[in-house]
Formats: sequence, structure tokens, C-alpha cells
Amino acid sequence: MAVVRVEEVTKGLKILRVDDRETAYFEALWEIPEGVTYNAYLLETKEGAVLFDGWKSQYSQALIEALESLISPDDLRYIVVHHAEPDHAGSLPALLRWAPKARVLGHPLVGKMLAGTPGLNGRFEAVRDGGSLSLGGVELRFIHAPWLHWPETMMTWLPRDGVLLSCDAFGSFGAAPGVFDDECAGCPLEAWVRKYVATVIGRYRPSILRALGKLGSLGVEPRIIAPGHGVVWRSRPRWVMELYERLARAEPVEGKVLILYASMYGSTERLALALAGELARRGLKPVVHGFTDKRRPLIAEVIADALDAEALVVAAPTYEAGLYPYLRLVIELICEKAAAPKRLYILSTYAWGGAAVKRIRGIMEGCGFETMAFIEAKSVLESQSPTDKIANIADEISKVPSTRQ
Ligand SMILES: Cc1cc2nc3c(=O)[nH]c(=O)nc-3n(C[C@H](O)[C@H](O)[C@H](O)COP(=O)(O)O)c2cc1C
Ligand SMILES: [Fe+2]
Ligand SMILES: [Fe+2]
Repeated sequence: MAVVRVEEVTKGLKILRVDDRETAYFEALWEIPEGVTYNAYLLETKEGAVLFDGWKSQYSQALIEALESLISPDDLRYIVVHHAEPDHAGSLPALLRWAPKARVLGHPLVGKMLAGTPGLNGRFEAVRDGGSLSLGGVELRFIHAPWLHWPETMMTWLPRDGVLLSCDAFGSFGAAPGVFDDECAGCPLEAWVRKYVATVIGRYRPSILRALGKLGSLGVEPRIIAPGHGVVWRSRPRWVMELYERLARAEPVEGKVLILYASMYGSTERLALALAGELARRGLKPVVHGFTDKRRPLIAEVIADALDAEALVVAAPTYEAGLYPYLRLVIELICEKAAAPKRLYILSTYAWGGAAVKRIRGIMEGCGFETMAFIEAKSVLESQSPTDKIANIADEISKVPSTRQ
């Protein structure tokens, strides 16, 4: 049984949240042991109700049951589809069956993208950027926010209560015990936001900056941000907007160095861990993720750590005249989601002819990283790490980068 929460956000506006603990890989990609929530919102006015978004299709029945406890089907005047992705729109067919009088509002593209949805024909109304609707004395203003996270994405601003219904934007992973940001003292909210931004909208980071600029120019200063995933930001809406801005700019956390390595037999691992030790001795904060014969990191966490690291170290064995496959995948994902003009250091080992350094440079320099130094060492059984070279690289990394001067 899925956990469903219905709570008041402001007078007349309720969150309808379901906690998804079944999805192990969001978008069949990103590992989410912390879970994810789908948040719909119900606005009740004296002239009828508006539902903003829905849940993933597997929770359609649970959503209808939650709605049934609040309103009758004929009360539902509008369903606002902020985003056509099935994690929010999957329950639309069930909603259209349950509330036959409800009309569907969304970005013009939503009409095209969802055409063919059972029950939608003749019931969709496109809303323009800046368009508004008044219902029972409550004003709804629609703000197009393209590419957060698809081209048709939109937000709704409720000026009366200062609530921004933002869908994917300002969302996060994690099924926190409480609905609001101030109800989970122990939740790593920042890490959940960072991981969500890096993986889900990392590719569209410039759109985050555009949307923030647009909200600013429209004078939208939310008192409450009510996103489609994660907690409702009622105690610190500014904080999450600023965090989104920092992540969109891939702004580094001072001293954070991502060390990403793979090692089949331990040679490359020795180099990577020796460097981690040297960096820690110099007061830096190495974050180490390694693929070995005993463990694999969560790829989503690696990408999240790449996004706000000051520098990256990639350490790889040579594998069939190329790059160890998982590492190739992960650095390609870093390029897609977390590319930034940051310093890159490479460590590699080989037995008869190195190739990994060239491959890593080819991929990562191609997306903006700058190779500052590398070590390509022939592995010798029971050899010591090339300590001088490792120490030199640690010195290089610990030099204050221009961004911190
Ligand atoms: C499947 C496999 C493929 C390899 N391919 C190459 C290669 O193409 N060129 C090379 O010089 N060494 C190759 N090696 C040797 C490793 O690159 C070398 O032993 C390296 O130091 C291993 O690092 P590790 O101990 O961190 O796994 C290969 C080893 C394995 C197991
Ligand atoms: Fe999405
Ligand atoms: Fe989503």
C-alpha cells in the first residue's frame, strides 16, 4: 500500500502526495534509495476546484480515492497539466473518467503531446505564457518554463497566497516523513535537491537560470514553493531558489574534489586512494567513488558530486585498448549532466600499452573540462604508488583556483 498524504498548504489549497518507494531507478536510470514523491495540489474555491498535476499511473486509483474524500467529481472544473511526463500526467486518463466535466489546461504543446489520451478529446484548452484564470475569487497566473524539464513545462503562480506551483522545478528526490521542508530535521534536503537537479534537469541547467530570471522580472517572490516532487518549501523558498541557481551554474563547493575511479585488481585504486589521502592532508575534501570487484557507487550520486566539485580526478585502468566500460558511461553522463569548465586530473594504469588517458581526455575535454595533469603508470605487482607524482598532483589540486581567489 502506497503512503498517501493530504494536507493543507494554505487556505483552500491542499497537497495530495504519494510516496513512491517501489521505483528503484527513476527514469529507469537513477538510483533512489531515498524514494520519490509525486505531489498534486487541489485548489478549492466557491466556484469549483482545480487540480494541479497528478501521479504516476500506477497510483491512479489511490489519487481518485484521495480526491473522493475531498470533493465530488462534478466539483472539479480544471486539471492543470504543468508537464506531460507520465510521473505527473500518468493518472490523467483516470482523472478524466472520474471527473467528466473537468477541462484540461496546459502549455499548447501539452495538447499535441497528450493527443490520443482517452477522454481528452475536446477538453483541452491551451494557456498562453502570462495567461490567467480567475475562479471563485482566486487568480491563477500561468508561466511557461520551457525545458524544466521538457519543452511544454509550465508553472502556476497564485498571487493571493504567494504560492508557486512549480512542478519539476524546485523539486527534489526523497520521501521525507513530513510534507513541508521544516518537518524533517534529519533529512539531507540539500543532497536530495542536488542529486535531482544533476540527474533529471542537469542537461537543461541554462533553463533554470532563464526561469529564475523570468520569475524575478515578473515580480514572483514566492512565500511557498509547491513542487511536483519532494518537500513543499514553506520555511525557506529563497534558499531552494538560490541552491537551484548555484547548481545551475555548477558552482563549486570550496575544497570538494571528486575522485572517480575503477579498478579491477587494485593498481588504479592504490593511486586513487593515495591521492585522496594526500588531498585530505592538505585540507581538501575528497569525495571518493570507486568501481571495484566488491562495490559499485550509485551513478546518480557520482553525477551529483561532479556538479558541485571544485575539481575532478578520474582514475582508470586500461581496458581492451580503451576505457573501463562503466567509467566510460559515467564520464559521458557527467558530460551530459554536469559539464563545466573545471580542472581535471587523470590517473591511469596499464600492463602493455596505455590508452585510457587519451580516451578520458577525448570525452571530457570535449565538454569543457581542462586536463591539468595526468599520471599514466605501468602497473607493477606489489609496486608502491608513484608517491612523488601523486604528491605533485595533490599540490596542484590544492592550489587556490582562480574562481576562489
Ligand atoms: C579485461 C582487461 C583488459 C585489459 N586491457 C588492457 C589493454 O588494452 N592495454 C593494457 O596496457 N593493459 C590492459 N589490461 C591490463 C590493465 O590495464 C592493468 O593490469 C591495470 O593496471 C589494471 O588496473 P587495476 O589493477 O586497477 O584493475 C587489461 C586488463 C584486463 C583485466
Ligand atoms: Fe519531468
Ligand atoms: Fe517529474
